[in-house]
Amino acid sequence: MNASPVSPDPRRKPVRIGIAGYGAAALAFVPAILAHPGFELVAVAEPIESVCDEAAKALAVAAYASVPAMLAGAQLDAIYIGTPTEMHSVHVLGALAAGKHVLVEKPMAANLDDAKAMVDAAATAGTVFLVGHSHSYDLPIQTMRALISGGTLGRVRMVNTWCYTDWIYRPRRPDELVTGLGGGVTYRQGAHQFDIIRLLCGGKVKSVKARTFDMDPARRAIGAHTVFIDFEDGAAATAVYNGYGGFSSMDLCFDVSEWGFAQPEGARNFARRPLANSNAVSAVDEQAAKRQRGKTAIPGSAPLQPFFGMTLVSCEKGDIRQSPHGLFVYSAEGKQEIKLPADRSPRDLVMAEFYDAITGRAPAIHDGRWGLANLAVCDAAIASSASGREEAALYQVAVHA
Ligand SMILES: NC(=O)c1ccc[n+]([C@@H]2O[C@H](COP(=O)([O-])OP(=O)(O)OC[C@H]3O[C@@H](n4cnc5c(N)ncnc54)[C@H](O)[C@@H]3O)[C@@H](O)[C@H]2O)c1
Repeated sequence: MNASPVSPDPRRKPVRIGIAGYGAAALAFVPAILAHPGFELVAVAEPIESVCDEAAKALAVAAYASVPAMLAGAQLDAIYIGTPTEMHSVHVLGALAAGKHVLVEKPMAANLDDAKAMVDAAATAGTVFLVGHSHSYDLPIQTMRALISGGTLGRVRMVNTWCYTDWIYRPRRPDELVTGLGGGVTYRQGAHQFDIIRLLCGGKVKSVKARTFDMDPARRAIGAHTVFIDFEDGAAATAVYNGYGGFSSMDLCFDVSEWGFAQPEGARNFARRPLANSNAVSAVDEQAAKRQRGKTAIPGSAPLQPFFGMTLVSCEKGDIRQSPHGLFVYSAEGKQEIKLPADRSPRDLVMAEFYDAITGRAPAIHDGRWGLANLAVCDAAIASSASGREEAALYQVAVHA
């Protein structure tokens, strides 16, 4: 992990940051923004009046009805963008044109053209442009990468990651299920998986072969995929995701949840096709349920390490997988556990990387070019499923730090 411990640069004023879109993703980021002493949260932009008022009260910051109004009215150095995916482009381009450092949610855009335009605009602006949170920030994944880079296990040859959830049946906005708007699991959850895989395998994907699945006529969307990824250096990976609320990959992960909580089978809040069985759920009710769920869905801290499904790394001289407290390493020396601290959440690590890049302490790994390459793998997987052929992944870059 290249992010330094949380210590602000004493020679600098705090980085004044605003939030664009006060929904589920933003609510998850607030604790990490407030916890980092190098940032000062000063404004929120949110078009739903009641939500905007709620944010102003809860955070004691200036609240604006739109992103342009916030950019014009609040003196910001940086902006976190958690608006719906198809809006990222206009919000990122506006913020970069105004000279702000930008942290945008994944997936960075709904299509490669928009994402490429953002990368070009960031280069012109000369400000920091980061794409996160993704689960490749999780400390166990970062530590896997450090172990691989250390070289004692030899070259990484295979990474296989499996995640089975209820993603499709959680309450959603309609656009979250539309592929062309960056919806469905290949964009939304593949963005995590491909980021993890590229980080562990060095970054440069050669080609992708995939099948995506839309399995519930009452809830049309890409809800599952199996993706085979070939890397330029001969490593290979698979990403399996199934969001149809049947099997849970917590059963493969010591009963630990995506956010690092013990959740034995009986204690899980797992949505098993509830919306498919009830056409009575209106879009308005569903969005109200989404907003309610978003208030508590992603806690700011957790006792155990986060598990985005099971990730098994195979190197020439050993294998690595997650344990509830860190990693298990299987090598000639037997099975060893590396325990990791649980005092910094994945989003704390995003804010640390953002701060380090803004202050020039360390370049960001998850910069715009990295996010573009992840999105290109999402695109290639969807294209491969449609064509039945192996597809090249565009815009690939190596891990540089
Ligand atoms: N990293 C993660 O783990 C994670 C988790 C959830 C969502 N996300 C990402 O975050 C983004 C938002 O998803 P969400 O689930 O939080 O959605 P959401 O609907 O809960 O939140 C989006 C918010 O943006 C607001 N908004 C809409 N138009 C706006 C505009 N023009 N200006 C300002 N605000 C506007 C909405 O009113 C809403 O409050 C998506 O890109 C999604 O992929 C990431």
